[in-house]
Amino acid sequence: DFLSKALALGAQQAAAASGPSVPVTVLYGSQTGTAEGLAKKLVKSLKKGNFEVELHDMAAYDRARLAGEKNLLIITSTYGDGEPPDSAAELHGWLLGDSAPQLPALSYSVLALGDSSYPDFCKCGIEFDTRLAALGAKRISARVDVDVDPDGPYAEWSAAVIATLAPGGAGSSGGEASADSAETGFSKTNPFPAGVVENYNLNGAGEKQTNQIALTLEGSGLEYEVGDALGVYPLNPPQVVDEIIANLPFKAGDVPAPNGGEVSLREALIRYYDIGSLNKSIIQKWQAKSGSPFLRSLVEADDKKAYDDFCWGRDLIDLVIDHPADFTDGEEFVSILKKLQPRLYSIASSPRAHPGEVHLCVGIVRYESFGRKRGGICSTFLADRLTGGEKPRVYVHGNNAFRLPADTATDVIMCGPGTGIAPFRAFLEDRKATAATGRNWLFFGNPHQATDYLYQDEIESYIADGTLTKFDAAWSRDQKEKLYVQHLMVRNGAELWAWLSKGAAFYVCGDASRMAKDVDAALHKVAEEHGNLTAEEATAFISQLKKEKRYLRDVY
Ligand code: 2AM
Repeated sequence: DFLSKALALGAQQAAAASGPSVPVTVLYGSQTGTAEGLAKKLVKSLKKGNFEVELHDMAAYDRARLAGEKNLLIITSTYGDGEPPDSAAELHGWLLGDSAPQLPALSYSVLALGDSSYPDFCKCGIEFDTRLAALGAKRISARVDVDVDPDGPYAEWSAAVIATLAPGGAGSSGGEASADSAETGFSKTNPFPAGVVENYNLNGAGEKQTNQIALTLEGSGLEYEVGDALGVYPLNPPQVVDEIIANLPFKAGDVPAPNGGEVSLREALIRYYDIGSLNKSIIQKWQAKSGSPFLRSLVEADDKKAYDDFCWGRDLIDLVIDHPADFTDGEEFVSILKKLQPRLYSIASSPRAHPGEVHLCVGIVRYESFGRKRGGICSTFLADRLTGGEKPRVYVHGNNAFRLPADTATDVIMCGPGTGIAPFRAFLEDRKATAATGRNWLFFGNPHQATDYLYQDEIESYIADGTLTKFDAAWSRDQKEKLYVQHLMVRNGAELWAWLSKGAAFYVCGDASRMAKDVDAALHKVAEEHGNLTAEEATAFISQLKKEKRYLRDVY
């Protein structure tokens, strides 16, 4: 009967739960906090089962332990040009190098986070996965590569992993995804429409446009710390959407909305789908519906450079107009598009200085290519499309990897050219509001002092009141030779070394592909020249800074 069956089942589960617990080590490599958040969620699920769980930031993990691990779960992102996140870099380099041991006793699985609009999608996770296999470890569950929106793929991967680790189902985590949607507060899945308090161009008459945007969080219950980012859901430009619709071969009707119900194709293309940049996957899908001989040869050649060259400077509208495809209706058409994703901006304010508000410093991206004026979807949305009192939908993206030192007496060096200044405006506001006794040094850079000196009044008042101990600006185009922040670091090398030797923390924000690399090289150079270190010693010194969380980067 039912009762005895239930009792038997209960006894079985108790037996499973009281058996020897399964050891699992979870490692994460995180740049903006997403991998870290998922790793913590995974640990929570594992703890409900009969597991003995350890969680480590890769940066703080003792790699000598790897050969002794039984079960290893890795969650790592990739950023920039297929690089490991800072916190994974050392373990990744060592594991891929010659001195990594064979790992025949290890079982593992990898969740790889990435963004398919960048080249080398999920490269870091893929490399961990293939390298562990090559070292003899056993892959217990297939790697899952996650594009920008991790919740669904994460739920699948974690359920598969947990089921494999605990046959009989102890600790199965079926409820994970629904636990999220049961959230009541504002979040990524339930963003808050924030009123616009300020929105103006910080640049003078120059070519660049950088907007200072203040939003109100009043009534949202949302809170943030300096170092966090704000997620913003953009809307696509209606004129471009109308042009797309006018050039489609079918009459626009309703299409299913991603969260149920039906919306007009126009509304769907404004709100829910990515009509911006192209990538290989969309070109392949488009080609299957188009008679374009050019697209056919592009897909057949399957050459990365040829794809990149074609995608550069083009958007969906170019496919629609130049390579007509015979979609039969809106539903089929939107089925090949990616979902429109929120964009993350480093928060430029301290809640201590602006209670109830959050500020952004946004570079407005505008360019012209193939005879068409174009722009960044989210930056032009914020700059141009909030004129009718629209409220952008936002959420707070916590970033524990980019925090001010807990001890306010610690000195802080900040390097943030361009909009990289955003989190440092927040840092300085916070340091002032907390009456921090540590010194503050800001490196800033932009083309011209006359037009591009962002937050000039604030910076000058911080210099006057002593909040800023040192300020060095690289006006890159105000003289014949380019002058960049890293040149000023080297020029001030003796003093920079003195600050670092006294325990200062070094922060970098901004462009990952060039600036952050050049700044890193400058840091090595300063350590070699002024610390009298060999190249190897300088590298060890800088690794140590990273370990101590005294070298933190918010780069993109
Ligand atoms: P440029 O555009 O004149 O070359 C913010 O974008 C500032 O960063 C600008 O002054 C820009 O200079 C500068 N910049 C460009 N490349 C850089 C690099 N590799 N390292 C540091 N700064 C750089």
